[in-house]
Amino acid sequence: MFEDIDRILIDEETIRRELRRLAAELVKAFKGRDLLVIAVLKGSCVFASDLIRLLPLPLSLEFLSASSYGEGTESRGTVNLRFLSDDLRLSGRSVLLVDDILDTGRTLKAVKERLFELGADAVKTCVFLDKAARRAVDLQADFRCFEVEDVFVVGYGLDYAGRYRNLPYIAALRPEIYGGAPKSTS
Ligand code: IMP
Ligand code: MG
Repeated sequence: MFEDIDRILIDEETIRRELRRLAAELVKAFKGRDLLVIAVLKGSCVFASDLIRLLPLPLSLEFLSASSYGEGTESRGTVNLRFLSDDLRLSGRSVLLVDDILDTGRTLKAVKERLFELGADAVKTCVFLDKAARRAVDLQADFRCFEVEDVFVVGYGLDYAGRYRNLPYIAALRPEIYGGAPKSTS
């Protein structure tokens, strides 16, 4: 099962520690607000599940699915969005958009724009991983757990061709699998 894995980048203990740090930041930021957490499927399922259990706040949870990759490791630039609820009430609420990783930024930018079109007046973004070196659009995460180097990673919800989401840690894929050297932003 692990033949594509190169090495562990972030172990379980480190994840637990940084989740607690992030949760404390979020509690401070959203205390007293009408918080709506929107998790982007499928990648953020593990992160969002662990994170909300560390937030002692009244909140609601929604999901949307965004896909832009197909079977490969490069974002194609077009993002398909699907909301799971038909009656999403966004106006007047503090929306926290949760995703697994901010890579080129195209996915979160598209989702954020769509949420504003649907009536949101405040959207903050929260990502488990931030590959800052890969950014292709102007978008920073408001909250993040870790910054990671420019290698393709799997585990803790993140997949390669649909696999490895169940690893409890973050691991780097063997470079030869996604084409040798780390990718550049262009
Ligand atoms: P972006 O639109 O390029 O920011 O891509 C965001 C989406 O691409 C994430 O939500 C992930 O699903 C996927 N992605 C980007 N980098 C990685 C990676 O290193 N491993 C697994 N999935 C990734
Ligand atoms: Mg994703």
